[in-house]
Amino acid sequence: MVEWSAAERKIVADVWGKMSIDEIGPQALARLLIVYPWTQRYFGSFGNLSSAGSVLGNPKVSEHGKTVLGALEKAVKNLDDIKGLYSKLSKLHCDKLNVDPDNFRLLADCLSIVIATKFGSAFNPEVQATWQKFLCVVVAALSSRYF
Ligand code: HEM
Repeated sequence: MVEWSAAERKIVADVWGKMSIDEIGPQALARLLIVYPWTQRYFGSFGNLSSAGSVLGNPKVSEHGKTVLGALEKAVKNLDDIKGLYSKLSKLHCDKLNVDPDNFRLLADCLSIVIATKFGSAFNPEVQATWQKFLCVVVAALSSRYF
């Protein structure tokens, strides 16, 4: 089981408390689709994703970005059992959506960059270290039913 100190719990909660799901979710997913264009193949039903402008203005990307962050919020509130929390979601991404699990890390990186851009100097190395730990646990949990 992953151990979380009181200080780490506070940092994760503080970062989350400063985020807007409606703003950060769409930006993080849009970045993934623009920076790593092969990820577009999973979103064939989302319409035109052929340019940065079409990704950023795509309402389905925005909606799904919010869905992804909604799932992350549950993890923020269940730090002690993220693996259990994401068991079904991992199976869905593996068996039904056939998402290559390497992409989870790429989305996590995009999310950190969006947060760093928004928070500026408040996203200091200590905050980043804890946030990175949180995302590593999320990525491991989402990958856990692949094997
Ligand atoms: C669907 C969460 C990463 C591709 C979903 C859903 C959630 C979710 C909650 C909706 C599930 C449902 O309808 O029951 C997450 C989280 C991620 C993540 C928390 C990482 C932090 C990714 C990545 C990809 C991906 C990296 C592909 C590159 C998809 C696709 C769907 C989906 C294609 C179905 C979309 C649709 O047609 O509505 N994801 N996801 N996910 N996810 Fe993920």
